[in-house]
Amino acid sequence: MEQGKAKPWGVRIRAVGMAVPEKVVTNHDLEKILDTSDEWIRTRTGIRERRIVDRDVASSDLAERAAREALGKAGWEPQDLDLIVVASATPDHIFPSTAAVLQAKLGVAGSGAFDVSAACSGFVYALSTAAAQVKMGVARRALVVGAETLSKIVDWTDRSTAVLMGDGAGAVLLEPTEEGSDEGILSVYLGADGRGGDLLIQPAGGSRYPASEETVRQGLHYLKMNGREVFKFAVQIMGDAAEEALKRAGLTSEDVDLYVPHQANQRIIDASARRFGLPAEKVWLNIDRYGNTSAASIPIALAEAEAQGRLKKGDIVLLVAFGGGLTWGAAVVRWS
Ligand code: UT7
Repeated sequence: MEQGKAKPWGVRIRAVGMAVPEKVVTNHDLEKILDTSDEWIRTRTGIRERRIVDRDVASSDLAERAAREALGKAGWEPQDLDLIVVASATPDHIFPSTAAVLQAKLGVAGSGAFDVSAACSGFVYALSTAAAQVKMGVARRALVVGAETLSKIVDWTDRSTAVLMGDGAGAVLLEPTEEGSDEGILSVYLGADGRGGDLLIQPAGGSRYPASEETVRQGLHYLKMNGREVFKFAVQIMGDAAEEALKRAGLTSEDVDLYVPHQANQRIIDASARRFGLPAEKVWLNIDRYGNTSAASIPIALAEAEAQGRLKKGDIVLLVAFGGGLTWGAAVVRWS
C-alpha cells in the first residue's frame, strides 16, 4: 500500500471491558510447587503474579463478565448485537464455539457467532474480522472478545510454561463511525507462518491426536512451547508487524500515543519498543500482574488503559500481537 494518510475503515471501538479471576497466584506461591524462583520469573519475564480460575470456571464465564462490562459502558443491551466473535486458545469446547456459548449466556439468539483460532494473536485477528464485517455492512454492532483459561491446559509440573500463563478476558464493541470521521481503525496487518506450528502447540484433543488414554499418559493435552525459538521469532515479528501496520496507516512510530503489545514477556516488549524509540510511558505493561493471557491480553490492556485515563479521544493506539501458528497481527486505531 502507498505511504500517506490512509482512509479510516469507518469502524470504531465504542467500549471496552475486562474480567479476571479473583484468585491471585504469586511467583512465591509457584516456588512451593515448582523448581523455580520469584527472581528467575521476574527477571526473565517481568511476571510477578497471575490470576487463575477455579476448576468450575471456563473461558465463556470470563468472556461474559468482560462483555457485560463493555455493554454496560456503551449502554447497549445484548440484543443490540448482531455479531459475536471470540478469540481463544482455550475455548469451552472444540464445538460449539465459545461465541455461541457466550451468546446463550448473554440471553440472546439470532446474531452471528463464531470463534477465531489464532492463539495469542487471536484478538487482533478477531478484531479485524469483525471490523471488516461492520465495514461491509454485514453487521452494525459487533462484540469481539479475547477470553482464556490457560491454567486449564498448562502442565503444572512443567516450570518452563506453567509460570508464564494466566487467565482473563477482555471485550470490545465495534460500530460504524459517522460519515467523514477520521477516527476508529486505521489499519490492520495479519500474518502467519504455519511452518512454525510445532513451536507452540496443544498437540492432542483434535482430530490428529483425539483424546485417548495414551494421549493423556503422554501429557499431550498440555501446552508445549519451545520458549527460546518463540522468543527469537517474537522479538523480530513484533517490530516488523508494528512497522507494517503503521505504514498502512500512513503513520510512523512518532505518531504513536500508546503502544499496547501482547503481554508475553517484558523483555520482548522492551526490545520491540526500543526498536521504535518508544519511551516507557508510551508502552502499556501489565504482564507483572496477569502473566500471559494469550488472546485476552490486548483487550485487558485496553480496558485498563482506558479506565486509567491513558486513552484519550484522538490518541493513536498501536496494537501488536504474536503467537502460536505461528501468527502475528497489528492494528492502528485512532481512539474515539
Ligand atoms: O504468547 C506467546 C507465547 N510465548 C512466548 O512469547 C514465550 C517466549 N519465550 C520466552 O519468553 C522465554 O524464552 C522464556 C521466558 C520461556 C524462557 O526464558 P529464556 O531466557 O529463554 O530461558 P531458557 O529457556 O533459555 O532457559 C534458561 C534456563 C534453563 O536452564 P539451563 O538449561 O540453562 O540449566 C531452563 O531450564 O532457565 C531454566 N528455566 C527455569 N528456571 C527457573 C526455565 N524455566 C524456568 C523456571 N524457573 N520457571
